Amino acid sequence: MKVVVSLEELRIVRRALPSPLGLAPTMGYLHQGHISLAQTARSECASVAASIFVNPSQFGPNEDLASYPRDLQRDLELLEQAGVDLVWTPTVEEMYPNGYQTWVTVEELSKPLEGQMRPSHFRGVTTVVAKLFNAVQPDRAYFGQKDAQQASVIRQMVRDLNFNVQIVVCPIVREADGLAMSSRNIYLNPMERQAATVLFRALSSAQQAYTQGERQAGGLRQIVQQAIEAEPLAKLQYISCANPLTLQEIPGKVQGPALLSIAVFIGKTRLIDNLLLDA
Ligand code: PAJ
Repeated sequence: MKVVVSLEELRIVRRALPSPLGLAPTMGYLHQGHISLAQTARSECASVAASIFVNPSQFGPNEDLASYPRDLQRDLELLEQAGVDLVWTPTVEEMYPNGYQTWVTVEELSKPLEGQMRPSHFRGVTTVVAKLFNAVQPDRAYFGQKDAQQASVIRQMVRDLNFNVQIVVCPIVREADGLAMSSRNIYLNPMERQAATVLFRALSSAQQAYTQGERQAGGLRQIVQQAIEAEPLAKLQYISCANPLTLQEIPGKVQGPALLSIAVFIGKTRLIDNLLLDA
């Protein structure tokens, strides 16, 4: 496994790798969710690259950029075990040199849900992913359903800007108790970690109601809300039952597939989770 830092080294190593090449972009502090992307890429591609870059431009001014967890040594070991050929760990200075002024914005899909709570977050994501795609030139790129809106926004960017990359979205990897794996779970103290299981429990009870015939989007949202409110350490930021393609809220009855998604504060830690209801 080659580990490169500069864009120049990246280009040299990339050129020697056989096609198709799969890329798994990450911000590091890897867990099995990230590794599943690399493993899927490994099973589908002739070569596999991963990037580790804590992208400053996707963090808001009051978010956790400074404290975002990092452990490069461990990350590299996990990627090596997953059979990755190339890891790129660019520097902030090379990604955003002095005078940097070009941004990629997906206008509509970036607005609701996460976009409403984290203004300019997706502008940072799409810009850095466009730069990663330009530098690595992958044939396929692997993202997680954990960040459902991110995957939609990136798919739209790829279509709109004619990137020659196939976007593959991999299922959410969960802990045994249902909590979606996230680098940010490390922020939770033991009591909060226990409380955090409420996200998946809440989504699951809505799914159960859906299976039993509940089709009112409002009813499904209410089930999730009540379950979250029953956990004293949890504070619901949003609950959405939306069209998975447009991310627009479903006003009345669910008639096709629906994306149920939530953002919840457990103490100071903000967690997101989602579930696809397939009509
Ligand atoms: P990061 O949060 O490190 O996540 C990297 C990729 O791993 C994303 O595609 C995310 O959806 C996926 N992922 C995270 N947790 C997962 C889980 N439990 N199951 C399955 N997949 C999971 O998302 C980012 O980084 C950044 O925004 C990035 C795309 C790298 C751009 O900076």
